[in-house]
Amino acid sequence: MSSFKGLVAKSVAALAVASSVAAQNVDAGARIVPGAYIVEFETPEASTQAVDPQSFFSNLSSSNIAAEPRVDLNHELFRGASFRIDAKDDNQGTVDVIQSFQAVKKIWPVRLYSNPAKVIGTLDNLGSLLTAPSANQKRSISDSFSTHVMGGVDKLHDEGFTGEGLFVGVVDTGIDYNHPALGGCFGPGCKVVAGTDLVGDAYTGSEVPVPDSDPMDCGGHGTHVSGIIGANPNEFNFTGVAPNATLGMWKVFGCEGEVGNDILIQAFNLAYEAGVDLISSSIGGPSGWTEDPWDVAVQRITEKGVPCVLSAGNDGANGLFDTSTASESLGSTSVGSIDNTEAPTLLTGATYTSDGANPTDFGYAEGGANGNFGNITVPLYAPTLDTTEAADGCTAFPDSTPDLANYVVLIRRGTCTFDVKVENAVAKGAQRILFYNNSPIGATAPGASSPDIPVGMVTAAQGQIFIDALKASTKIDVTFGGGKKIFSVVPNTASAGKMSTFSSWGPSFELWIKPEISAPGGLILSTYPQAKGSYAVLSGTSMAAPYISGVVALLKQIKGKKFGTPNEITALLAATAQPVQFNNGAATENFLAPVVQQGGGLVNAFEAAHTTTVLDLDNIALNDTRYFKAIHPLNIKNTGKKAQTYTFANLIAATAYTLTTGSIVPDLFTDIELASDAASAATIRFEPKSLTIGPGKTGRLTMLFTRPQGLDAARIPVYSGYVSINGTNGDSLTLPYAGITSRIKDAKIVNSPAGYPFVSSSRAPNFPITNGTVFTLPGKGANATAATVFPTITFDLAMGSRIVRLDVVPQNVRNLPRILGQQVLGAIAGTPLENQPRNNVVAVPWDGTLANGKLAPAGKYKIMLRALKITGDVRNEHDYERFDTGYFEIKYST
Ligand SMILES: *[C@@H]1O[C@H](CO)[C@@H](O)[C@H](O)[C@H]1NC(C)=O
Ligand SMILES: *[C@@H]1O[C@H](CO)[C@@H](O)[C@H](O)[C@H]1NC(C)=O
Ligand SMILES: *[C@@H]1O[C@H](CO)[C@@H](O)[C@H](O)[C@H]1NC(C)=O
Ligand SMILES: *[C@@H]1O[C@H](CO)[C@@H](O)[C@H](O)[C@H]1NC(C)=O
Ligand SMILES: *[C@@H]1O[C@H](CO)[C@@H](O)[C@H](O)[C@H]1NC(C)=O
Ligand SMILES: *[C@@H]1O[C@H](CO)[C@@H](O)[C@H](O)[C@H]1NC(C)=O
Ligand SMILES: *[C@@H]1O[C@H](CO)[C@@H](O)[C@H](O)[C@H]1NC(C)=O
Ligand SMILES: *[C@@H]1O[C@H](CO)[C@@H](O)[C@H](O)[C@H]1NC(C)=O
Repeated sequence: MSSFKGLVAKSVAALAVASSVAAQNVDAGARIVPGAYIVEFETPEASTQAVDPQSFFSNLSSSNIAAEPRVDLNHELFRGASFRIDAKDDNQGTVDVIQSFQAVKKIWPVRLYSNPAKVIGTLDNLGSLLTAPSANQKRSISDSFSTHVMGGVDKLHDEGFTGEGLFVGVVDTGIDYNHPALGGCFGPGCKVVAGTDLVGDAYTGSEVPVPDSDPMDCGGHGTHVSGIIGANPNEFNFTGVAPNATLGMWKVFGCEGEVGNDILIQAFNLAYEAGVDLISSSIGGPSGWTEDPWDVAVQRITEKGVPCVLSAGNDGANGLFDTSTASESLGSTSVGSIDNTEAPTLLTGATYTSDGANPTDFGYAEGGANGNFGNITVPLYAPTLDTTEAADGCTAFPDSTPDLANYVVLIRRGTCTFDVKVENAVAKGAQRILFYNNSPIGATAPGASSPDIPVGMVTAAQGQIFIDALKASTKIDVTFGGGKKIFSVVPNTASAGKMSTFSSWGPSFELWIKPEISAPGGLILSTYPQAKGSYAVLSGTSMAAPYISGVVALLKQIKGKKFGTPNEITALLAATAQPVQFNNGAATENFLAPVVQQGGGLVNAFEAAHTTTVLDLDNIALNDTRYFKAIHPLNIKNTGKKAQTYTFANLIAATAYTLTTGSIVPDLFTDIELASDAASAATIRFEPKSLTIGPGKTGRLTMLFTRPQGLDAARIPVYSGYVSINGTNGDSLTLPYAGITSRIKDAKIVNSPAGYPFVSSSRAPNFPITNGTVFTLPGKGANATAATVFPTITFDLAMGSRIVRLDVVPQNVRNLPRILGQQVLGAIAGTPLENQPRNNVVAVPWDGTLANGKLAPAGKYKIMLRALKITGDVRNEHDYERFDTGYFEIKYST
């Protein structure tokens, strides 16, 4: 069926196969914890009387709702609680009852979020970076760390600013506070002065958290992030951006897995209440909407004057309109990633001898499941002595192969999976394997899945050296162990100083500009838990956000803790940043990357600290054609000691087409069409043309924007650029703007060209069933078994939707109540779904329960999917896209 070809490439967002009567435990696009909810209590301004969670829970039980408390959210800026409802009571009727309590302001499902770096490899995603390894570069403590030079941090360090006196709150996987570069202790007097573990090491996202007081990191991400903010000088000759700041760590992950947003709300509020000067967090999930309760909690903290710096996300491959929660929240500072000018690699050291002589060090990347070869010396064996063999090890080794038990086996990467190669080698007795890379780009951790066989990867160049020696009948003996690290740095010749291809693109669906600013995040050396090697090179917007957090700490040290609101700080960072040219991962174009990819561009901490010109806007979101606002005033304050005269210009960035002609799904990064000509850009009239502003005085500029004309609106062109503002004393600022030349309400929501929505079975939610298929469901009082198959509604959105309704319609409609103009039996339990992201296949299994908690009678039904268009009115039936599935039949076994 060719119309479904789009399905194969996508995986269904984790489907909860219902194991009890309640089938509403579905994935809600952004993943949810089945049955878990957050409520916020009413907090009347004048009243000091807080709602008592105990009385809320006794209300639940007197309403016959069985619930288990999760997290107590008794915070100044967020009073509420989270809890998990028993599966038998988990339906919309229950949610409606809870929402009707006077004390309850709003109820939301608990959503899950992951730390963004998890989805990003180290070097592989960054195009062809390097050819030959070069000598290690020396660095002095006087700062020449490449990322600090890139963002002007080196110059602030030279001036003696290191974040002394600032307290930075970090919400992440924990921190190895015993690491010498992170102070070596925890508590008062240490670098890591505060923090706690809100969940326990065993937590993976869905369990009830088991907190303890120790924020020790068992994952690694939080230790890396913390080092970027505040590492002390160390053997790798770098420091954090603000090495004299103190840190607090609110640990929200177990050793693996995800985190519920109830915990995130708690962590941000605890950090706020501990008196941090700012909060840094590299956590996120797909959304595009700003009503998630975590977004709301972050917004409130920023409104109290505490900046919240968040990573923009690593979904750059998906193209435009793919920002993450909570970096998209209004008030937060959303940070995109720029690739380092240098490509550091940090490999595990080993030694080899040639015919028993000439011991030589080499490095390998340790395998994901098991990279520990122990302390052993073994000869090297290669099944193929051909470094151009594309499918090395992909088929069974020849009969002539010796017993490989006492060797380390060298196999070239490529064609088949690492697991297939491991299997073929193990069939000949192999107990340890080194792969060599098939691309010249360093070496990455091979993802072989057997924890019993240690694996590693060496560079292509090292593989060549080994193979040449074996070809010359030289005996190579490899000695593993000893704990050495092999560090090398080469110039990044592909993408130095340009946006990382993985960095997520905005705008948000409501056309806010995100990210707002970018910082080095690709190929970053920082601290790592000592148990995992002490240092690591990682890539991600996760590494860019803490850089900006460090910069904000420096700015507060220089200008005073109370300096600026979070928005004013973001505005200062954006206006003094350096817009960068577009890079596709391998080559750089001669035009500026779209604002919705880079925000203000590469941060310049020195300019942000020293500019004497302050703007009162962080950016200008010009919205769509329907809501376009042409006239924008800007207040410019001259904080210098002399009058200066400002001139203005329009610095255009490339216009990005969201869609290819005829498509409704935003193009992948690799397919995005950019137009850099003046006709595709906006024009701006400045009134007055120049402005002289006295010292300490504020002047007012008016900008009149004209949208680019004649662009194909159906393709959702996103135009953008910068208002360039130069003052006679040398200040040079760039204020970002962006808008679209179509009506966002016209954007198609449901990915119907790819065949969605359709009815599937819970066994195979990726494939439509034949119309008329009969499902036999357990029915009232009975429990589903492993054999039960549920009808399942599978859909995917081309663009996000604030409300997706799934209503049940019988084959013979008679005298049914109308919902939004249509006669329907009712909504599927657990729906409507709110704040749905795009590019996320959702499968909703149905056990016959309706949102009111009642079972639909046996019979023939179809499902009517209605998705609210962007900017649509929830109550207006015409503001929804509607698609009906084919009919299917349900019966009950009891
Ligand atoms: C408990 O229920 C009563 C009656 O519905 C309501 O007025 C009150 O606000 C509820 N209290 C809480 C804490 O939910
Ligand atoms: C750090 O600097 C010292 C002194 O200059 C040098 O010996 C050492 O090799 C450097 N380390 C790294 C990892 O570059
Ligand atoms: C930073 O901290 C170190 C170690 O505590 C101290 O020696 C140094 O004087 C501090 N630097 C500044 C600029 O405060
Ligand atoms: C290997 O040797 C190192 C030191 O040479 C030691 O620290 C480590 O514990 C040893 N590992 C094993 C698995 O024996
Ligand atoms: C664009 O206009 C719509 C409709 O008024 C509004 O909901 C949205 O917030 C606006 N977006 C921006 C960035 O101002
Ligand atoms: C400001 O200076 C920069 C760098 O020299 C230049 O590219 C830009 O066009 C100037 N802007 C104005 C308004 O003159
Ligand atoms: C269904 O499962 C629940 C919970 O495991 C159990 O208490 C109940 O007895 C089961 N009902 C039937 C009819 O098997
Ligand atoms: C199933 O029914 C739907 C709606 O009537 C129709 O569009 C679709 O073509 C049918 N599918 C098949 C395979 O007959």
